[in-house]
Amino acid sequence: MNTFQHDPGYARAMGHLLVLYTQIDQFIMEVCAARIATAPDDEARMGLAKQVGDECRHVTIQREWIRRFDIDPVPVIPSDALERLHIHFRQLAWTDFLVDLYLVIEALGSQAVEQVVPLADPGTRESLRIPLQDELDHIAFGLSELDKALNAMTPGQRAATLANIPRRIDNLVAQLETLQLPVMDWFEAVGTRREQMMQVLDARQDELIARLAA
Ligand SMILES: [Fe+2]
Ligand SMILES: [Fe+2]
Repeated sequence: MNTFQHDPGYARAMGHLLVLYTQIDQFIMEVCAARIATAPDDEARMGLAKQVGDECRHVTIQREWIRRFDIDPVPVIPSDALERLHIHFRQLAWTDFLVDLYLVIEALGSQAVEQVVPLADPGTRESLRIPLQDELDHIAFGLSELDKALNAMTPGQRAATLANIPRRIDNLVAQLETLQLPVMDWFEAVGTRREQMMQVLDARQDELIARLAA
């Protein structure tokens, strides 16, 4: 079992991953809050508002864990990069917003975090329990909103939107890669295998797209 006390390499990498996760949760909280006013209907507004509350809770839980275990709280995503990501999400139409936020950040992001859970120390695992449970709700919300948006389209539009999803995912992943954070190194330092992580994420992406196309 890895621990913060006995393994400095593990502690440093897990610390960075936890700070990253907290920054992303706060980012999602702000992005969802900003979308409430322009969401297409009441159901979408309620879902976004609930999520804002959930992400706020996640940030609180993670910050408390970061403080208790003396993890270096210095942000890993620079503020100008966060601002560029805010600009990206602000200018997206609703369907593209759903793809980028729920398929990439929520679904693929939490899939990556799930890979860490069995390898993590007990305290970190506990700090992830409630957040990861809630992420399932968020992904379900995003998928049901995507279904609604796709069902409102003409068959041609729907097919084109579905066909374009892998490109959207690749583009956002490429944009995130410009941050040049050694995230895969951190994942490896806490015990995941790079190859296996890539396979799990690819499989999850295929599963999500198949689910939307069904
Ligand atoms: Fe979250
Ligand atoms: Fe979430």
